[in-house]
Amino acid sequence: MDRATNGYRVFRDKIAVITGAASGLGQGFAIEIGKAGGMVVAADINFEGVAQTVATIVAAGGKGEAHRLDVRDSRAVTALVDATVANHGRLDYIFNNAGIATLGLTEEIPIENWDEIIDINLKGVVYGTAAAYRHMVRQGSGHIVNTASLAGLVPSPLLAPYSTVKFGVVGLSDSLRVEAQPKGITVTALCPGFIESGIYGATRSIGNFNEQILRENIPGIVPLDKGVRQLLDGVVRKKRIVTLPLYAHVMIWLYKIFPGLALELSAKLAERQTQTAAERAKRGN
Ligand SMILES: NC(=O)c1ccc[n+]([C@@H]2O[C@H](COP(=O)([O-])OP(=O)(O)OC[C@H]3O[C@@H](n4cnc5c(N)ncnc54)[C@H](O)[C@@H]3O)[C@@H](O)[C@H]2O)c1
Repeated sequence: MDRATNGYRVFRDKIAVITGAASGLGQGFAIEIGKAGGMVVAADINFEGVAQTVATIVAAGGKGEAHRLDVRDSRAVTALVDATVANHGRLDYIFNNAGIATLGLTEEIPIENWDEIIDINLKGVVYGTAAAYRHMVRQGSGHIVNTASLAGLVPSPLLAPYSTVKFGVVGLSDSLRVEAQPKGITVTALCPGFIESGIYGATRSIGNFNEQILRENIPGIVPLDKGVRQLLDGVVRKKRIVTLPLYAHVMIWLYKIFPGLALELSAKLAERQTQTAAERAKRGN
């Protein structure tokens, strides 16, 4: 299916703010929505990257604006959302997507890393949601799309700070979905498993852990373009939670029905990763 002319026509002439749009999923959402005829307000702490995203949209005949934005700055987030409504007359979508990851043993993770991930991945989403929701309530329409993770639905040892904030994003999205529905507003939480993106290189790895160990121990990694399209398909269908691939569905189901078994399996995986990390550190590679 050509999604730009079929499945994604819902985005045509819509105004969409997307954070974390310089790379990975956010960049993919921005380009797909731009190609489908939406007006993309792309924001990221990395201005060069987000300018590149908008250049790609414009080269494909679409419309977009690039903004430098640190989602930790609540005033800046609110100002961008307010300016978008002032300039374009309304706000149809906000994708609160910017995020980082932290990997390591909890006893070794400095409190500064907790603060950083809470500020970006949780408070950043709260700021975007709060700023957009007020306008959407006034409009009587809109769709808030929060990028959580599979780690927001199942426990994820060695990723405790990440899992903590992602559970928070799912809680926020689900609670608001109930409140927002009678006001004509949809809220979706994106909860994918592993998708190829810049996040692995950007992961704050603590102690013996590193990107390679994370990659070697994940059950499979979805190509970025496939991940972006499957997630956007769920947004178009206004789903509550969008998850992929198959192993993510299995893990969610297992944790719901047999939580003890799910925890046992994830403990085994964490133990293997910890051992590998320690052995490699000893050997110096
Ligand atoms: N890739 C995966 O496997 C995966 C799986 C589940 C959920 N996610 C989530 O998807 C979202 C997007 O991540 P991605 O995988 O595309 O990674 P990515 O690193 O490719 O993109 C993240 C973007 O967020 C931006 N960013 C970081 N801190 C910021 C800040 N303070 N203010 C504004 N922008 C900031 C980065 O500059 C980057 O462009 C994240 O919330 C991540 O947790 C990713």
